[in-house]
Amino acid sequence: MCGIVGYCGARAASEVLLEGLKRLEYRGYDSAGICVGSSGTDFELLKRKGKIRDLREIVGKDVAGTFGIGHTRWATHGEVNDINAHPHTSESGDVVIVHNGIIENYLELRTLLEKTGSVFQSDTDSEVIAYLIEKYYSGNLEETVRKVLPLLKGTYGIAVLHKNEPGKIVGARNGSPLVLGVGNQEMFLASDVTAILAYTKNAVYLNDGELVTLTSEGYRTFDIHDTLIQKQVEEIGWELEQIEKKGFDHYMEKEIHEQVASIRRAFQGRLNKDSATGHLGGLNMLPYELLQVKRVVIIAAGTSYHAGLIGAYLIEKLARISASAELSSELRYKNPVVEHDTLYFVVSQSGETADTLYAMREVQRKGGRVLGLCNVIGSTIARESNGGVYLHSGPEIAVASTKAFTSQLAIFYILALSLARMRHLSVEDGLRIIQALEKLPDHIQRILDQADKIEELAKKYHIYNNFLFLGRGLNYPVAMEGALKLKEISYIHAEGYSAAEIKHGPIALINDTTPSLFLVPDDALRDKVITNMKEVKARNGRLIAVAVEGDTEVADIADDVFFIPHTDEILYPFLMVVPTQLFAYYCAIELGRDVDQPRNLAKSVTVE
Ligand code: G6P
Repeated sequence: MCGIVGYCGARAASEVLLEGLKRLEYRGYDSAGICVGSSGTDFELLKRKGKIRDLREIVGKDVAGTFGIGHTRWATHGEVNDINAHPHTSESGDVVIVHNGIIENYLELRTLLEKTGSVFQSDTDSEVIAYLIEKYYSGNLEETVRKVLPLLKGTYGIAVLHKNEPGKIVGARNGSPLVLGVGNQEMFLASDVTAILAYTKNAVYLNDGELVTLTSEGYRTFDIHDTLIQKQVEEIGWELEQIEKKGFDHYMEKEIHEQVASIRRAFQGRLNKDSATGHLGGLNMLPYELLQVKRVVIIAAGTSYHAGLIGAYLIEKLARISASAELSSELRYKNPVVEHDTLYFVVSQSGETADTLYAMREVQRKGGRVLGLCNVIGSTIARESNGGVYLHSGPEIAVASTKAFTSQLAIFYILALSLARMRHLSVEDGLRIIQALEKLPDHIQRILDQADKIEELAKKYHIYNNFLFLGRGLNYPVAMEGALKLKEISYIHAEGYSAAEIKHGPIALINDTTPSLFLVPDDALRDKVITNMKEVKARNGRLIAVAVEGDTEVADIADDVFFIPHTDEILYPFLMVVPTQLFAYYCAIELGRDVDQPRNLAKSVTVE
């Protein structure tokens, strides 16, 4: 949430910052700004409401400067306008800052400063940081930032410039990610690696409580007491081309299509046909430890939570271990019971979601063993968990998550399989599941090959204002995910519900202007779902169904049907979700929405 970028070197800083911000735009996109300088000249600060392309319009080619900082905002305090956009300056303009996070005591600090005559320009919580740094400036920016940080309550990733110290950026992190990029006679700072990938593959990840000083010559990492911290330079495993659109109109479309390859990657080296089981090395757990697990709790937010719901259902069904999924924002504040024989899984594509990170820390404080399931390598959750698994889906740029969801499912299936094989699942059954899992990428390709059919459905149905997405069992969370996708990017209201539960409320919404999208696999609950479809039809409801090839009964009842290939009955979530992703995508296109950057959302929610 909010993107930060900084640069010190010989290049035109404005270009590096604008390029970096473009890459970070998925973190927030309501306003943006940069401040650049060079030795002996004044800072040049440009910011405005709108996207990076709007900012680019006011940054002329003649903006000189070889160091600077930039920011793309997702508003928390103060409306979206030019003044509240970052960077923010101190009263004299000597100090310039960008900030990601929330300063919880900013009103208190602001009131104190106002009493001594300060006049603030913006409504943000961030501006107070620049004012405090100016007030306490000792002639040494590093030292001053160290002195000011203890006054701040809340979360921050910040980058600071001072006019008296050209060519230097001081950064600090507490709760909001910051990473350094190490170049040759140039240094970068960013809230995530996508901003710097075009320039360097050498990264240094800051931890909470750490500060850094950057110049073109190099960097120094230290803590609030000025103790030097030796950090490891790590190689960024992603390639620049992975964050390009590669001929697709939108990142979301590209990422939906990438699922054939990303699921294959998630399975790679993790399924063993000889022993008919799965293997997740990163869990850091010996088989006998896994055997002692009595309960699994999955903690996540948004789309990751929906993957977690399916994971929990599956672990309970296949491995016969009691399992549940919890919203991280809720778990954190409910004083959860943490037990030694419970395995906690924290699921997060970005590895930075604040609620999920804080929930993880709470469970760890209570002595729980927490494993992370993340996509972004080197992310905070990946580094702070007690073991875990990477999704290896490659960078996910579209705000609406798609390929990360199916990779999260892939990991849960491998996990459930291995837990089940350690208990009662036979070699034959284990092998049958592995063989079915291996066919999934081809099945998904067949669905993608028929994307035009879903496009037709979207052309017909995007005119409705309300939708119900309905499924049962493992496919109930898929219905929730399908509804979330439609809401997120098309702004059509949709509810994901258990098809069985509609009798207890949502059926009151059914009429000929509220279509229902039913997920109908050929599993044990198929006949029940068909009964639910008939209940809707009897009330004049329009019916779209995603059903299994050859299911003529469903085709006869539904107004429209999309067929998916047949698979093992526990694997349908993979095949059910892809049509719902495409449906949301094409509805959003029909409605002219900003698919990759839907209003009010951000990819990575690093504030509570
Ligand atoms: C935001 C994103 C969603 C994502 C959720 C959880 O709301 O817009 O796409 O599912 O955060 O993110 P995480 O990175 O923790 O999976």
